[in-house]
Amino acid sequence: MPVGERLQLIEPSEALKDFYLEMVEECREAFEFYAFHDRALNDYRGYLTDLQAWKRGERLPPGFVAMTSYWLVRNGERVLGETRLRSRLTPALEVEGGHIGYMIRPSERRKGYGTQILALVLPQARWAGHRRVLVTCDTDNIGSARIIEKNGGVLNSYSVSLYSGKQVSRYWIELE
Ligand SMILES: CC(C)(COP(=O)(O)OP(=O)(O)OC[C@H]1O[C@@H](n2cnc3c(N)ncnc32)[C@H](O)[C@@H]1OP(=O)(O)O)[C@@H](O)C(=O)NCCC(=O)NCCS
Repeated sequence: MPVGERLQLIEPSEALKDFYLEMVEECREAFEFYAFHDRALNDYRGYLTDLQAWKRGERLPPGFVAMTSYWLVRNGERVLGETRLRSRLTPALEVEGGHIGYMIRPSERRKGYGTQILALVLPQARWAGHRRVLVTCDTDNIGSARIIEKNGGVLNSYSVSLYSGKQVSRYWIELE
């Protein structure tokens, strides 16, 4: 990560529309499809309204819990990735998903931003009242496992994804 960069975790806004959609397009070109990217492309303003409702725990998609989304933004304009902080666990999130999910856009990987996005969302989790958070990743996702470990994650156990059947590593990060 170059010296002098300004990295911020910012809640989605109208002002970031073009920068965010540019990241979404990049993911699609790389054949990486993330939850709600289609929604953002089709109706950005409606998507922002959804995100605000979901933060309040309203109008949630089935199986979802209240969650806050943040974008990692470099120098006020380039959206590097996104993260979601969930308010609580469900039995399904205990298996896979945990309290926090994140991604970094393909062209900005292996530069330390994945480590940074988790580091920046942890204080938000503490501020939201969490004393510890569960963070999971596929066991073969070496990059994500490193990110979690570098942020203080302690491997607790393994589970099996209900979606892919793959082994999932479950880590707790203490926030006190
Ligand atoms: C996983 C992901 C977030 C990593 O982001 P990133 O910005 O590349 O992460 P970092 O640059 O902070 O890398 C952290 C560490 O992992 C290593 N790493 C990253 N990607 C790696 C890979 N594909 N293979 C091996 N090591 C990898 C880095 O070298 C670094 O190691 P170091 O600390 O020893 O130097 C990114 O690849 C991504 O968004 N993937 C798709 C979505 C996803 O998997 N999200 C996580 C779900 S749990």
